[in-house]
Amino acid sequence: MNNVAQMRKVEHRLPQEPEFLRRQVDVYYQDRVAPWGGGHIMIGQVPGKDALRLLSNDYLCMARHPEVIEAQCRVLKCSDPEMLMAAVFLHGDNPQARFEQQMAQWMQAQSAVLSQSGWAANTGLIQAIAGPGVPCYIDMFAHASLWEGIRSAQANAHPFRHNATEHLDALLRRHGPGVVIVDSVYSTSGSIAPLRDIVDVVERHGAVIVVDEAHSLGTHGPEGRGLVVDLGLTSRVHFRTASLAKAFAGRAGIVTCSERIAEFLKYTANPAIFSSGLLAHEMAGLEATLRVISHSDDRRRRLHRNADYLRCGLSELGYNLELSEAQILGLEAGPELATMALRDALEARGVFGSVFCAPATPKNRSLIRFTVNSDLTLAELDRVINVCAEIRDEVGLADWPSTRRRRHAPLAAVANA
Ligand SMILES: Cc1ncc(COP(=O)(O)O)c(C=O)c1O
Repeated sequence: MNNVAQMRKVEHRLPQEPEFLRRQVDVYYQDRVAPWGGGHIMIGQVPGKDALRLLSNDYLCMARHPEVIEAQCRVLKCSDPEMLMAAVFLHGDNPQARFEQQMAQWMQAQSAVLSQSGWAANTGLIQAIAGPGVPCYIDMFAHASLWEGIRSAQANAHPFRHNATEHLDALLRRHGPGVVIVDSVYSTSGSIAPLRDIVDVVERHGAVIVVDEAHSLGTHGPEGRGLVVDLGLTSRVHFRTASLAKAFAGRAGIVTCSERIAEFLKYTANPAIFSSGLLAHEMAGLEATLRVISHSDDRRRRLHRNADYLRCGLSELGYNLELSEAQILGLEAGPELATMALRDALEARGVFGSVFCAPATPKNRSLIRFTVNSDLTLAELDRVINVCAEIRDEVGLADWPSTRRRRHAPLAAVANA
């Protein structure tokens, strides 16, 4: 029996929950689940065979690429012993060191350090480079793993307004040099960081910068080398990180840095010391993916064409996609019940996006995220656009806070002139 809903529930005797634990869990049910009125914001319909799925981060459709599968199978079938251990024990010539060298070369960096995920790359890097009390200037919309790194370093977080270089400048003037942390492409809205301006500010204050390229590595820049390479900033950006679970469609993360700091990270970042490293077949898959991705200009072209096509179509219908500049499009219904209504309306018509709500977005700025990939056809995108046209009244598009923001934007611009 493989249907979870049909599985027989077994009664278990459970230990007592002490008061502190009961209170913690009660907060979730009272503050999160109760307002959803019997539904669950993260649980909608299961997509059927004909569903249009705009919810994967596999932007270039690499997950089932025959070269990647073949590379993994070759290693799985060979008789070399598998080394199951943390990366801190690796030395000499080994598959991880070889892949790190290839990634460093491709990303035009001196060194690269592989980790188990984008989460591990970000938390490990910031925990290692920012000690207790070090000021960390982080874009308000930066990924949760970067905030977690600040927490685990016991550093001081100084959030700056999204993409607001002048706010970053003012904070640096007040608190002194530290670590500036941004995403290149933001994962809920698809906005792009003004990296050149940010790097100018970083240099003016003698700070260091971490750029998370999770949503631009593979998809942006020459041969997919990312936005930092595209903008010619490799010699001015201290650290780049990326999840390899997006365009690389694997399960890993990467940090680029100087050779000196790479060695420091390998023996200082907690995920490298206290958590097992990647398996040999995963490394082989990533190596093959890198080979394919660097020759995938055609896929990148189709990806960006698709993103532009959908963005234009939905913007014309009145959806506020002003922030989106990449393959991520956020339909921001705002309050969670409005986002659930949007999800239901889309899914009833066979269109599936991902729900983003607190803590991934500010409360009351929840949204359905569409991620576009290179294999979507224009006919499929037309289907999405037609569905979004049809549901506008049903989901109350005119009353969404994001729609009102858009309508008022020209007035605000006039007022500021
Ligand atoms: C910008 C960004 N950084 C890091 C991560 C974490 O990556 P991973 O899923 O590989 O842990 C994500 C994934 O959601 C992300 O969007």
